[in-house]
Amino acid sequence: MKLYSKLSEVYEAMYTTFINYEEEYKFYNKILSKHKKLNLLEIGSGTGNLAIYFEENGYEYCGLDLSKEMVDISKRKLPLSKFIVGDMRTFTTKNKVDSVIVTGRTISYLLSNNDLMSAFASIYENLKIGGIISFDFIDANRFIPRILKGEKITHEAIYKGVQYKRKSKWELSLKAGMDFIWHSEYSKKVGDKFLKIEDDTSIVRTFTKDEIEIFLLINNFEIKEVINRETYAFPTYVIVAEKIEK
Ligand SMILES: C[S@@+](CC[C@H](N)C(=O)[O-])C[C@H]1O[C@@H](n2cnc3c(N)ncnc32)[C@H](O)[C@@H]1O
Repeated sequence: MKLYSKLSEVYEAMYTTFINYEEEYKFYNKILSKHKKLNLLEIGSGTGNLAIYFEENGYEYCGLDLSKEMVDISKRKLPLSKFIVGDMRTFTTKNKVDSVIVTGRTISYLLSNNDLMSAFASIYENLKIGGIISFDFIDANRFIPRILKGEKITHEAIYKGVQYKRKSKWELSLKAGMDFIWHSEYSKKVGDKFLKIEDDTSIVRTFTKDEIEIFLLINNFEIKEVINRETYAFPTYVIVAEKIEK
């Protein structure tokens, strides 16, 4: 997948335009405030678009992302903030944190049950007892029917005077889990024509609420809330769970 490496600047241009990160911040801030958590690790911090708001609002923030290119863009935008390149399946923080959020459906890239188990185990180890984890995932029950219909989606964005376009189509893949192959074509307008920048393909995982609940139970997290939420392209649930003693 090139979106978070070779195409990281295109990601930044497009997502900054069509995602309302202030709304995203307000959503997670409500959850964290309710549980009185001001110390925060964001996994899948991307290009730092949420970090801006957490920093502005007095959170003790650290972002973690697998992609060096994404982290480099975050550091360029917020040179004084803490961002680390790391894998959610294997990371270790210096000190345990009060809360972990995994944003923008980053959990979709945990393609095997072993990946999911490793990520929950790492998050568990890096959280204080009573600490909160919150993450969103694509709901298989609502999204797979859309894949079966063969829906095609176009996203457009204008960033710094340049017009970008992404055409996406999805193909169901049941080799490992309830995954889909996301084919996309990125282009930008030059003169009066769109010129192709790059094609991209990635495998993305959907989950059912039940399977997520079981994985959390196995990993000693107690579910506090399950929030139904529509995002820019995907029907999702957001989980809020608490780390309990083993
Ligand atoms: C859809 S983007 C979301 C970025 C950001 N949260 C946002 O909303 O703009 C998913 C991010 O997850 C990161 N990612 C994928 N697998 C990861 C892993 N195993 N550990 C940490 N980050 C990962 C990617 O590099 C990418 O930046």
